[in-house]
Amino acid sequence: MVHELSKSNSILNQFITEIRNKDVQKDPLRFRKNLERMGEIMAYELSKKLDYAETKVETPLGIATVNQLKNQPVIASILRAGLTLHTGILNFFDHAENAFISAYREEKDGGEIKVHVEYLASPDLNGKTLIIADPMLATGQSMSLVYEAILRNGTPAKIHTVSAIASRQAIDYVSKHLPTGTEIWVAVIDEELNSNSYIVPGIGDAGDLAFGLKL
Ligand code: URA
Repeated sequence: MVHELSKSNSILNQFITEIRNKDVQKDPLRFRKNLERMGEIMAYELSKKLDYAETKVETPLGIATVNQLKNQPVIASILRAGLTLHTGILNFFDHAENAFISAYREEKDGGEIKVHVEYLASPDLNGKTLIIADPMLATGQSMSLVYEAILRNGTPAKIHTVSAIASRQAIDYVSKHLPTGTEIWVAVIDEELNSNSYIVPGIGDAGDLAFGLKL
């Protein structure tokens, strides 16, 4: 199931506009903050699909009944660009466990992209709800490789992916390569990928915009 949140008008669209704008992008603090705020909004929307149980809370004046999350999710992020979105999601799931995984794109001559998955730090995932955050879902290959790598630590009961921008191609790829029932949350879907597998119009390189150029 694909949820493209920009389809309904909300303040999210303001943040999408700002992360895309090449002048606003010159301010990395603002770029990081906007991705974090997008993570918060997507965490809120996704939270409506989780399981809740009725609980009682004692106020100074009496007892109130509230529905509370039954289980906290595990939030997994792909380094390094995922960190900003991750922070936003974690802001709303206070007690979530966290997993980090490295995936980098080696751009080969002729435009071929090879994705390397190396570092993995993850809790036990058996039976848990796993949220995988990757701001730019370009081909969907990294998301799928990360999913396969993370299975070393158990099989989640349910998976949600969270991205700021996805290409149409990546949505199709992830829908085919992640388990049935996976929910794909994305702020906006762009139709094009260029020959270097960058999303067009997209935003450019999310990792560089958030954290600076790398060698
Ligand atoms: N990663 C990015 O940061 N941007 C893209 O457009 C694609 C992958």
